Amino acid sequence: MPAETRRLDPTPEGLAEAARLLAAGQLVAFPSETVYGLGGDARSDTACAAIYAAKGRPRFNPLIVHLGAVDEVARHAVMDDRARALAAAFWPGPLTLVLPRRDDTDLSPLVSAGMATVAVRVPSHPVMRALLTAFGGPLAGPSANPSGRVSPTRADHVLDGLAGRIAAVLDGGPCAVGVESTIVGLAGPEPQLLRPGGVAREAIEAVLGRPLVAGGSAEAPTAPGQLSSHYAPAAPVRLGVTVPEPGEIWVGFGPGCPGAALSLSETGSDTEAAARLFHALREADRIAGAGGRIAFAPVPDAGLGLAINDRLRRAAAPRD
Ligand code: TXA
Ligand code: MG
Repeated sequence: MPAETRRLDPTPEGLAEAARLLAAGQLVAFPSETVYGLGGDARSDTACAAIYAAKGRPRFNPLIVHLGAVDEVARHAVMDDRARALAAAFWPGPLTLVLPRRDDTDLSPLVSAGMATVAVRVPSHPVMRALLTAFGGPLAGPSANPSGRVSPTRADHVLDGLAGRIAAVLDGGPCAVGVESTIVGLAGPEPQLLRPGGVAREAIEAVLGRPLVAGGSAEAPTAPGQLSSHYAPAAPVRLGVTVPEPGEIWVGFGPGCPGAALSLSETGSDTEAAARLFHALREADRIAGAGGRIAFAPVPDAGLGLAINDRLRRAAAPRD
């Protein structure tokens, strides 16, 4: 394991160094439009195993593979008409598709945790796209946080959790979307919503022309963050709070939260709230300190609110 984690700037030199480290089998955290990812060569068993080790991730939780273009995806996964329609509508962007693996793919079986499917995504962040070009291959990339902790939306967050455990972080500034990608399962006849995320469910259903069915469960997780206490800050979290109790750090949403310590969005924008969510969780946790408590104002379930409330419920779930 590297003793010191370097911070690389997204300059031609920084990108070349990141690509060199990845080609040598090392781990480099990368910026994406959703959250920072913990990148490693998706064809290398040792790099994928190192990702699991750096995160302390349970082995059954497979990894998303990031690729530069749709035709590269089709070299590793079977794309049907539904997959092609969603790819045309939302890639590059914050959508992940779970598809059947092709028999002739050179992806490590570890990215699929041994299953017959693979999760694939074409990201839109310009720095990540430049890294994929410089590296010239598929990058496995779970969110760049220790397993069970809040996803990082800034390079500093990555270093908070993983300094000393990875070779470098490529600093692309704060992530614009702020919640992870929406995961849609297309390995069976019914399209499944495996995780709400940066593309609204309604937009996906409009392209498919049919509703998404629920997929996975906390008992038998098939997508990330389906373990109930994922995304947990240290302080206990209470949700739907319109009147905070004395001593609670109140995180507001919309204009009606006078006295809130922080706000996900003063104007009540779901997009802005998603972008601020994980930073707000960290900030509230820091302000609350030892023995402190956090309370969130209600966020409507429409648009990205579905993904925000999903992450907040996990942050508030009972801990082991
Ligand atoms: O926005 C994102 O999706 C970020 C950025 C870095 O791309 N990545 C991310 O990765 O959130 P991660 O590992 O934290 O969450 C991805 C989840 C995994 O927990 C896993 O359960 C699910 O995707 N997943 C991966 N492969 C799968 C598969 N073959 N079948 C079902 N679920 C899968
Ligand atoms: Mg994650």
